[in-house]
Amino acid sequence: MVRLQGPLPERYATASPAELEEMIAGAKATLGSRLLVLGHHYQRDEVMRWADLRGDSFGLSRMAAERGDVEFLVFCGVHFMAESADVLTGPDVKVVLPDLNAGCSMADMADLDSVEEAWEAIAAVTDIDRVVPITYMNSSAALKAFVGRNGGAVCTSSNARAVLTWALSRGDKVLFFPDQHLGRNTGVQLGYGLDQMRVWDPRRERGGLEEREVKEATLLLWKGHCSVHQRFTPANIAAFRAEHPDGIVVAHPECSHEVVLLADQVGSTDFIIKAIEAAPAGSHVAVATEIHLVQRLAAEHPEVTVTSLDPLICPCSTMFRIDARHLAWVLEGLVEGEVRNQITVGPETVRWARVALDRMLEIV
Ligand code: 13P
Ligand code: SF4
Repeated sequence: MVRLQGPLPERYATASPAELEEMIAGAKATLGSRLLVLGHHYQRDEVMRWADLRGDSFGLSRMAAERGDVEFLVFCGVHFMAESADVLTGPDVKVVLPDLNAGCSMADMADLDSVEEAWEAIAAVTDIDRVVPITYMNSSAALKAFVGRNGGAVCTSSNARAVLTWALSRGDKVLFFPDQHLGRNTGVQLGYGLDQMRVWDPRRERGGLEEREVKEATLLLWKGHCSVHQRFTPANIAAFRAEHPDGIVVAHPECSHEVVLLADQVGSTDFIIKAIEAAPAGSHVAVATEIHLVQRLAAEHPEVTVTSLDPLICPCSTMFRIDARHLAWVLEGLVEGEVRNQITVGPETVRWARVALDRMLEIV
């Protein structure tokens, strides 16, 4: 998806870290309780230090849903998270994303047109009323609305198991998008075999599947992935275990199934934080997730050695777009009465996306 973020004015582009700190602290103090800054765990430290609340994508959506009392919600995360916050808050809350180019390449792997085409193709060969669409939080509001309209729900990496269980109690088949890995890993956790899953390739007719395969599959997994998490490999785990036989491997469920099978613990970013907190002092934990979280955990837990499972670091380049300069720019705008980079979702999309998000919040 193309989004346009123009260059920052000179004042912000050339400010020193100390000047930016002064601008952000000053704006936050002036805005006081009118403002809430939310930070996703993948944000860099120069941004995260200003977050009033931190969380994984599920936690942050809950926080947004509960905070209808603020005027401005500055979301330090990526576009789909800010959209969800707009859906979950009332019209009086203005949601701001400091850099409009902070998207998510995985979310961009499924768009409304291709999902609607897939839905029609599935309906042509099977009873569509028995198919439940589930979208991962990492998707546009338009897809969340599609799911809401068609009896499905949103899930995140921390509740995919509960949501998938719910979906399969309501139908015989799930169309899961956009992350095939989260879908596959969760399906296996629930006891489904790989033979009950098929990958739906949106670039091919009928997803690249035989009619029989569409009919028989319990889980149709959209051919999408996260390029950050897909980099981790079984070879990384073998190398780590060879060097640290007693070491612990903790992976995010967006990693491939082969990696998840070999990991000791698997869960969302919040889960990973708790796993490090619970790790015995002196242990070595290799983490398969975005590098800013890994580095923060390493700094905050000197009693444990925390390293990235992949020695070649894995940053999320879109999360990385949010920096102190953009944060200072949007916050000073709010002080001056100008809402920069507001994320607004249209009323019809809000209505149905909210249905899908509320279902998720009710399930867990
Ligand atoms: P969490 O749901 O763990 O916050 O992950 C979101 C995400 O984008 C991971 O790549
Ligand atoms: Fe998207 Fe992957 Fe970045 Fe998460 S880490 S925001 S899934 S690109």
